[in-house]
Amino acid sequence: MSTTEKLLNLLGIEVPIVEGGMAYIGDGRLAAAVSQAGAFGQVGSAGRSLADFEKQIQIAIESTNRPFGVNLPIGEHSDPRERVELILKYKDHLRAVSISAGNPRPFIPVFQEAGLPVMVVVSTAMHAAKAEQSGADILIAEGTEAGGHNGPAELTTFALIPQVTRAVRVPVLAAGGVADGRGLAAALALGAAGVQLGTRLVATVESPAHDAYKQAILQAKGEDTAMIERSIGRVTRVLKSPYVSEVLEFERTQPSVDELYPYIKGEKNRVGAVEGDLAHGFAYSGQGCGLIESIPPVDDVIRLMVEEARAVMRNLPAF
Ligand SMILES: Cc1cc2nc3c(=O)[nH]c(=O)nc-3n(C[C@H](O)[C@H](O)[C@H](O)COP(=O)(O)O)c2cc1C
Repeated sequence: MSTTEKLLNLLGIEVPIVEGGMAYIGDGRLAAAVSQAGAFGQVGSAGRSLADFEKQIQIAIESTNRPFGVNLPIGEHSDPRERVELILKYKDHLRAVSISAGNPRPFIPVFQEAGLPVMVVVSTAMHAAKAEQSGADILIAEGTEAGGHNGPAELTTFALIPQVTRAVRVPVLAAGGVADGRGLAAALALGAAGVQLGTRLVATVESPAHDAYKQAILQAKGEDTAMIERSIGRVTRVLKSPYVSEVLEFERTQPSVDELYPYIKGEKNRVGAVEGDLAHGFAYSGQGCGLIESIPPVDDVIRLMVEEARAVMRNLPAF
């Protein structure tokens, strides 16, 4: 069985495309739309109160009979235990959990004992091998092209995926920079079982992103993203804007984490992404923004990506 078949079976989906966890954006409606299209939707816990996380899971349950999952970025929550409890409460409605931003090891058996396969986000081959040894069912290898928090090694997707797929046996999803069918075909050629999308799904009809944020992604070329938080040892890819220039300017003064925090806290992401006020807040985007030229329904994104990938694979030049 190919790793793509394993992936499709584990997640109960028709096409090898997964919605990445997305702070403020990955709500129940978007997750359901992705799952309805035959891919795998995920409700994100980042940027949500516990009550809202539960509400979004319920919305997804009511909106689709297809399988979907949840994303738990461990480090984003001061105490992830209450989120873990909530996920376990809904275990019969969920198909899988993805874990990011922290050590997944203590959490993997907890979810697996509840019958939930676990996907772990990694950014190096070593990290991937460790996660596999800890029992991860699927790995999400995320390159530095991706929107949002990235791994500190800053490996590109093109270099990372074959290194990870060589190091592990479990299915690997390629994340970072995939925004069309060519990206999906390339990921499969590099040994991935499928892809995880972030930025492409922000600019869709069903996405709760503010229209100003969706339009900013449409306008952005590949060079219109920047990394913030480098001065404190983290790397976070966002859309360039005057606000982001101010943050970068301040970072040149080598502020402490506490000094920088007011500029980079989640609330500033909410202001940019949900309120669309990009003068007073920031919004995540991957470099794939340069490929995004429309705001279609999710179903079109998934269908066209699969059609295009199949055509690309059929028409690859022989030599
Ligand atoms: C708006 C946005 C929010 C994100 N929030 C999270 C998150 O909460 N947890 C997580 O694991 N990854 C998060 N990511 C990363 C995505 O899950 C995904 O891996 C990444 O976007 C893939 O790269 P792409 O943006 O080039 O498609 C986020 C990405 C975006 C664009």
